[in-house]
Amino acid sequence: MEKSLQSLIAPLSKSDFLNHYKSNTPLVVHDIKDRMKDFTELPFLKSLDSLLKVWPEHVDSYCPGIADEANSKSITTQEAQGCFNNGMSLLFNDANKHSPLLNEWVESMKFELGLSNLTFGRSLIYATPKGQGTDPHFDQNINFVLQIHGTKKWWIADNEHVENPMTRHTIGVPTDPELDSYLHREMPNKFPENSTEVTLKPGSLLFVPRGAWHKTIAESDALALNFTFTAPTWIDILTTAMRGRLAQSSEWRETADFVTDEELFPQAFEKFDMLLSELAHDIPNWRSHHILHATEMDKFPLK
Ligand SMILES: [Fe+2]
Repeated sequence: MEKSLQSLIAPLSKSDFLNHYKSNTPLVVHDIKDRMKDFTELPFLKSLDSLLKVWPEHVDSYCPGIADEANSKSITTQEAQGCFNNGMSLLFNDANKHSPLLNEWVESMKFELGLSNLTFGRSLIYATPKGQGTDPHFDQNINFVLQIHGTKKWWIADNEHVENPMTRHTIGVPTDPELDSYLHREMPNKFPENSTEVTLKPGSLLFVPRGAWHKTIAESDALALNFTFTAPTWIDILTTAMRGRLAQSSEWRETADFVTDEELFPQAFEKFDMLLSELAHDIPNWRSHHILHATEMDKFPLK
């Protein structure tokens, strides 16, 4: 089967998807079990039991309190079944590291979405006991959820508190200081009321836009396979390319000496101002294709 998002969402087209993607609108597709065979036929996705038998690493188990990966602990696969039976959700990180097929899917979806080489794409598996779920939060990544076993309810809402967040946030957890610096309005203490409710069954696919508020509850023991993509912002593209450029200069590579020295700080300021003025002279000549050559070299060769 062709490893593409388009093959999963047909008869919807890529441009249908892009309409959702660009407007940060969730998209759900049901009854695509036959197209999800690549995943459902993986031996380790047959059941939680089969997954725990072959999983080579520790597993993250949610702890009592806020149901969120920020409140989890690392446990062995031997401990995991007991934790699950006691109502703890389990998270299997970076499943694509252990499955070439999942890794191929990560890479082909990344390419299909036209995402930067700097994108951190991965696959995760969530095992959620009946009645449990995830507390309200948003993520900085783009998320595709494939429901493999069981039924899970999702509530998704627009994020009117911050646009294009660069870090995730869970209600009830302190806000990351950088995220706090660009909030549009103060973080809420409860999930927004105007949300969309979606019920995922085996054979459902859900696209969760970057930054959208969401929370979940499993209606039965559930297993879901996620593909997440943390793609660079323009800030990341520029700073990565700029670092590469400035690294060519021995003056920029100098230690930033005396910046907190009470007597010598004027020297530090003078030196830094000189470097900044040289950079300001250089910047008007920068063009997007030069910068993108630094991060996406194979796609934008310099002529
Ligand atoms: Fe999430």
